[in-house]
Amino acid sequence: MAMVTAKLSSPAASWLTGGRTHRSAPTRRATLVRAAAGSYADELVSTAKSVASPGRGILAIDESNATCGKRLASIGLDNTEVNRQAYRQLLLTTAGLGEYISGAILFEETLYQSTTDGKTFVDCLKDQNIMPGIKVDKGLVPLPGSNNESWCQGLDGLASRCAEYYKQGARFAKWRTVVSIPCGPTALAVKEAAWGLARYAAIAQDNGLVPIVEPEILLDGDHGIERTLEVAEKVWSEVFFYLAENNVLFEGILLKPSMVTPGAEHKEKASPEAIAKNTLTMLRRRVPPAVPGIMFLSGGQSELEATMNLNAMNLSPNPWHVSFSYARALQNSVLKTWQGRPENIEAAQKALLVRAKANSLAQLGSYTGEGESDEAKKGMFQKGYTY
Ligand code: 13P
Repeated sequence: MAMVTAKLSSPAASWLTGGRTHRSAPTRRATLVRAAAGSYADELVSTAKSVASPGRGILAIDESNATCGKRLASIGLDNTEVNRQAYRQLLLTTAGLGEYISGAILFEETLYQSTTDGKTFVDCLKDQNIMPGIKVDKGLVPLPGSNNESWCQGLDGLASRCAEYYKQGARFAKWRTVVSIPCGPTALAVKEAAWGLARYAAIAQDNGLVPIVEPEILLDGDHGIERTLEVAEKVWSEVFFYLAENNVLFEGILLKPSMVTPGAEHKEKASPEAIAKNTLTMLRRRVPPAVPGIMFLSGGQSELEATMNLNAMNLSPNPWHVSFSYARALQNSVLKTWQGRPENIEAAQKALLVRAKANSLAQLGSYTGEGESDEAKKGMFQKGYTY
């Protein structure tokens, strides 16, 4: 693996780089800083900055074929390649999307697909200044020795897959693992989640892809918000411990956390203000300001909740860009409007722009919530949801 050696300009550095005498050397040992980013370091930093640009966030449409099938089934469509392509074409050819969307996470099938007119989806994105991203994990499987928890597969062959995805135009990657509060979480599950994310992040950077680091803390459970805060702090401290241990370049990553909310079955709902307060407390305690962007997942919140909560987090300045990387909270009303009918495509694209714009305003802290449809208010939480 190529290593970057940071240039040190202190007296300690000139000593290290062959100063004539060791007599003036400090007694303290100078340490060479190594990053996993290799020759891509500058590019990673600029990719991450472009995704984390003001008033923009990520459209997550990286559902595996099985999960995309669930989306299509919700409007009575079969899970065929033609239908998946038609749906992704609707989303990715929405004119004006680039004003609100800086990156789109794709599933492998989509990265290699084109519109029915033969234009690659990657080119559709590039034309709107939207970075193409790629889901690189291979999904969750049971974690033996844990309390019915899971771990995320996909490290085998990851370097060569990332290199191929880069050639195809991808510039960032996503790896989603989950942590369950009702199951514990056990120390084993948290460590495995954190270690897997860190190994993935180093490999992605080494191949030119900005890694989105996503330990999703599931909404499932009847616990209160304080318990979520406690678990989130634990998870993120381990994630950053292992990211550092793997020499990951923090300026070249993006985070995709869950918001700190009460469990979905908790007796009381929390206000956007309480969610923002707890989430920002957790982030300030755990996330260095070197990280350029925090791109939240929606996790089963309604479209409206996800937007209001994001807005509440942007009412005062943050050390990082605080934005969205929503799947369900950007797609729900689009799907309902489309219904698989060609005559509804235009209206469905308008519905996507409505949500994208609302979240763009929320990124800037200027969303008011006026004029939202009833559809946008419907929650999408499903117990034990698998992605
Ligand atoms: P949701 O916004 O539906 O939780 O999806 C998040 C995700 O990980 C997709 O990339």
